[in-house]
Amino acid sequence: MDNAIIELNNITKKFDGETVLDDITLSVKKNEFVTLLGPSGCGKTTTLRIIGGFETPDEGDVFFDGHLINDVPPFKRQLNTVFQKYSLFPHMNVFENIAFGLRIKKMDERLITSKVEKMLELFNLKNYGKRRIDQLSGGQQQRIAIARALVNEPKVLLLDEPLGALDLKLRKEMQQELKAMQKQIGITFIYVTHDQEEALTMSDTIVVMNDGIIQQMGSPIDIYNEPQNAFVADFIGESNIIDGIMHDDYLVEFLGKKFECLDKGFGKGEEVDVVIRPEDLDITPTGQGKLEGIVKSVTFKGVHYEMRIVVLGYEFLVHSTDMAPAGSTVGLTLTPDDIHIMEKGE
Ligand SMILES: Nc1ncnc2c1ncn2[C@@H]1O[C@H](COP(=O)(O)OP(=O)(O)O)[C@@H](O)[C@H]1O
Ligand SMILES: [Mg+2]
Repeated sequence: MDNAIIELNNITKKFDGETVLDDITLSVKKNEFVTLLGPSGCGKTTTLRIIGGFETPDEGDVFFDGHLINDVPPFKRQLNTVFQKYSLFPHMNVFENIAFGLRIKKMDERLITSKVEKMLELFNLKNYGKRRIDQLSGGQQQRIAIARALVNEPKVLLLDEPLGALDLKLRKEMQQELKAMQKQIGITFIYVTHDQEEALTMSDTIVVMNDGIIQQMGSPIDIYNEPQNAFVADFIGESNIIDGIMHDDYLVEFLGKKFECLDKGFGKGEEVDVVIRPEDLDITPTGQGKLEGIVKSVTFKGVHYEMRIVVLGYEFLVHSTDMAPAGSTVGLTLTPDDIHIMEKGE
């Protein structure tokens, strides 16, 4: 593909006879922020390690800037990795930690100083050069781990759950900081996380993985609004997933009622998954909704209420600024564009 800096073509990887990556094909553009997102064990780290050259695929090809790099060792690839455990050198100060890669390259001392100082400035660590690593907070250590990789001026930075060890508030700050920096210096990021919110916040493109298979690739908005299957719908945000039957184009039945929808092309009588986002359901007084249920629980979430509403044994998750108390009977309404029909997963 034009403009692609990294391409994976039909990558398959087995460990002990177990397939952990199954025919992975993806393409990353220059300066793109791409996130591999999926539950633990789905193959994210293995994919990253294949790009980095730390694992060899059993089948398939890896391209860098149009060149096949299957046999190129990690240190000759123009990329750097930030691992989850950032493993800084505790016996070196901040400056020396960042300078490490440049010293290995035997770079001129003055050039090293200027490059490291630029990094310290970029990461708001200007007066920290002489500090010992153990005198720094988790957030500062994380910044140094990233600075230590970036100072080598890689074309691609691989980041494996780099914010996983930070508390929520710091993680959110670092998400903004990293994203801004990535745009500012103009570099390609391939980022791994199991946190869907992090992926939605930071990425240009999200690659949703499960069981070693790419489930969907697209912009955060596309993935959120148009999930291709129930797995993606459920993993990206919360969803109600109900068994349904397609009666005709634009007509689906679930929970004993027929609903207009926007989907077509399914077989008549085909069993489908009906996906409805919690924020798309509206509560009404009894008798005014197409569905009727009993409120099982109500939790105030700040901006909205989260309610669990049971309809014919199915427990809906509903997010609404309106509230009905636990134990009450309410109606539920939804419009055709609130209903998303998916092929049944295996
Ligand atoms: N070196 C290895 N030897 C054997 N199994 C491995 C090895 N590395 C990873 N795996 C297995 O491969 C699967 C994918 O792992 P990984 O890529 O680390 O997933 P993720 O990063 O998405 O959590 C898991 O089942 C894991 O146990
Ligand atoms: Mg991992």
